[in-house]
This record gives sequence, C-alpha cells and structure tokens, in this order.
Amino acid sequence: MTTPVPFSDARPRIVAADAAGVAAACERLIAGELVGLPTETVYGLAADANNAEAVNKIFAAKGRPADHPLIVHVASAQAARTWTRVWSDAAEKLARAFWPGPMTLIVKRASHVLDAVTGGQDTVGLRVPSHPVAQALLTSFAQRSTSPHAGLAAPSANQFGHVSPTTAQHVIDEFPSTALLVLDGGACDVGIESTIVDVSGEVVRVLRPGRIRVTDIERVLGVALASDAADAADAPRVSGSLASHYAPRTSTQMIDERRLRMQLRAFRAAHDRGPTRCIITHSFDVETTEKLHAVRLAADAHTWEFELYALLRKLDSQRYGELIIEAPPQGPEWDAVNDRVRRATQRDSEQ
Ligand code: TXA
Ligand code: MG
Repeated sequence: MTTPVPFSDARPRIVAADAAGVAAACERLIAGELVGLPTETVYGLAADANNAEAVNKIFAAKGRPADHPLIVHVASAQAARTWTRVWSDAAEKLARAFWPGPMTLIVKRASHVLDAVTGGQDTVGLRVPSHPVAQALLTSFAQRSTSPHAGLAAPSANQFGHVSPTTAQHVIDEFPSTALLVLDGGACDVGIESTIVDVSGEVVRVLRPGRIRVTDIERVLGVALASDAADAADAPRVSGSLASHYAPRTSTQMIDERRLRMQLRAFRAAHDRGPTRCIITHSFDVETTEKLHAVRLAADAHTWEFELYALLRKLDSQRYGELIIEAPPQGPEWDAVNDRVRRATQRDSEQ
C-alpha cells in the first residue's frame, strides 16, 4: 500500500516522477482529486474521466466554461477504442502512425462517456501520450481503477485562456491555491498542444495544428485535407479555436519583418519614449537599448514550438509594457507556431 501524499492545505506541490510519485498520483486520482500530468506536448490537469465530480474540479480550477469538452487520455490505442462507438479507417491509420504521440482524435463517443467530459457533444477527444511518466501513470491508473474503460480527462493545466504550461513549475504558478500533486516530468519535448484531428464525420479535418503536420496526416491518409477546416460552420467546438486563447497577460503584437524594422527605427528616433518593449525575432538581431530588449529564437519551427510558451511566461513576469513578435515564416512546418502566435496576439479582438 502506498501512503497517499497528505494534502492538509489547498496548495499545489511538485513530486518527483519516480515509482513512489506515480503511485501517489495514482492514489490521488482514484480518490477523485486532480493531478498535474506531464505529457510530451504540455502539462495536463488530470482527473478520473469516469468520475463526474472529479471532472468538475477541473472546470472549477481552470475557470473553464462547462460546455468546453476535455480530451480523454489512455495508455494505448486499444484502450482508446473502448471510448468510441465508431472506429473508422482514418482513425485506425492515424492511430497506427502517430500514437503514442502528440495527436488527439475526435471520434463518436461511446455511450458510457460522461457529458461532463464531452460538453454534451456526441463526440469525444482521445489521446495516447508518449511521455514515459504519462504512460506510467495511465497504466497504473488503469490497473487500480475498477472501470473497464479507465482514462484521464486532462485539458492543458492553465487558467482558461492563458498560456499552456510546459514545466511542473508553470503548473504550480497557474494554480497556487489548488490542492494539486504535480508530477515533475521535466520540460515538455514538443512544447505546444497536440494536433487535433476530427475523424468523426465524412471528412477528416484538422481542428488544431500541432507538431504532427497536415502534410504528415495527408501522407498517411493518402488524401488532401480541406484547408480552413476549423472555420467550417458545423465544426465541433474547440475552445482552443477562440481567437483569444493562449494569450500572455502583457499586450502582445505580431509584426512582419519589414514593418518591424521600420517600427524599431521609429522607437529609436523617439529616443525610446513609451513603454519598455521586448522584441522576439527569428530573422535578425535587434539592437537593444535600455527600453528595447530582444530575444532571437533560431528560425526553426521545433525551436519556436519548444520555446514559445515558456518565453511568453517569462517575459510576462518581467512586466514589459509591450511584447512584439516577428511574424514567423509561412508553410506547413510553421502552421502550429503561426496559429499560437496569432492567438497570443489577438486577445483584445475577441475576448
Ligand atoms: O496536447 C494536448 O492536447 C494537451 C495535453 C494535456 O494532452 N491537452 C490540451 O487540452 O490541450 P485542452 O483542453 O487545453 O485542449 C483540447 C481542445 C479543447 O480546445 C477542446 O475544446 C477540444 O480539444 N476538444 C476536446 N474534445 C473535443 C470534441 N469532442 N470535439 C471538438 N473539440 C474537442
Ligand atoms: Mg488548453
């Protein structure tokens, strides 16, 4: 028997992801409590997906509207199939190619799936993460659970609308007064959320771009996917598709290289009047001054995915008057980065 980690106060704490830590997290989940779960994409805020009360704690902690569906995480594709009533050819191909890994499949729900998880929709999002700590926890949770279809509901472990966490400390920073055990799985390898692919209808659609590119999916399915799918009127609800999602708290703009260089000249000509700014670029070095700081990230999509959220968090805490991000390059490799930067910079338009 493992002794549960005592939680006498409403505080989060980080626990090493060794066998004892995973066992303690498992006990917490069985008891209907929340756990900070490392995955290869971002950290999740996990609860027993078959326990409505536990799932409701996720919504309460995040301040997330109750009709926004959650992703169910399981250890294998075989386990995932117990959560759906239709396993299509496309689902099978994508699961074989990309699971375990940073991809979520939207499928028709099985009858046992709680409304609290799906937001009342007829579909459910399923994901098999590859992170070894997530795998260990999902496996031991499935062994301990009395349910024939064990799974963990887990959205990204951030306050609703804020930047997703990519370290255990970020999770603590998001939930300073929640009784929460956070397993420390290190910095997430990918750094942005999973690619969401809707395979519940006739047409396969990418609802959220991620590390698994549209071109990777097209190659596996052997068909071209429709573009701007997420804008389709009948597309299922994805809270990540609100324009204001993934926003830092500091006012943040995206500007293309040419206009950015002009702006920088204007800032200097004005002798740096105005707020202290930080500029994030990929194509050139910014000459810094006392009120003009800069970070240059390598012009490589993986680097941007890995760094973006952690960097926005860090800069947010430094209380700049304004952040400016050089518009990333275009093309399939950069779709996910462009998507997240666009959302991070559109907070004022659609909140
Ligand atoms: O990488 C990830 O996907 C992370 C890690 C923790 O697995 N999770 C994550 O969860 O990003 P969340 O809740 O922050 O974003 C999942 C998105 C939400 O925008 C939700 O609306 C959408 O997936 N979603 C979940 N179930 C859905 C469904 N049945 N139909 C359409 N969208 C769905
Ligand atoms: Mg999220």
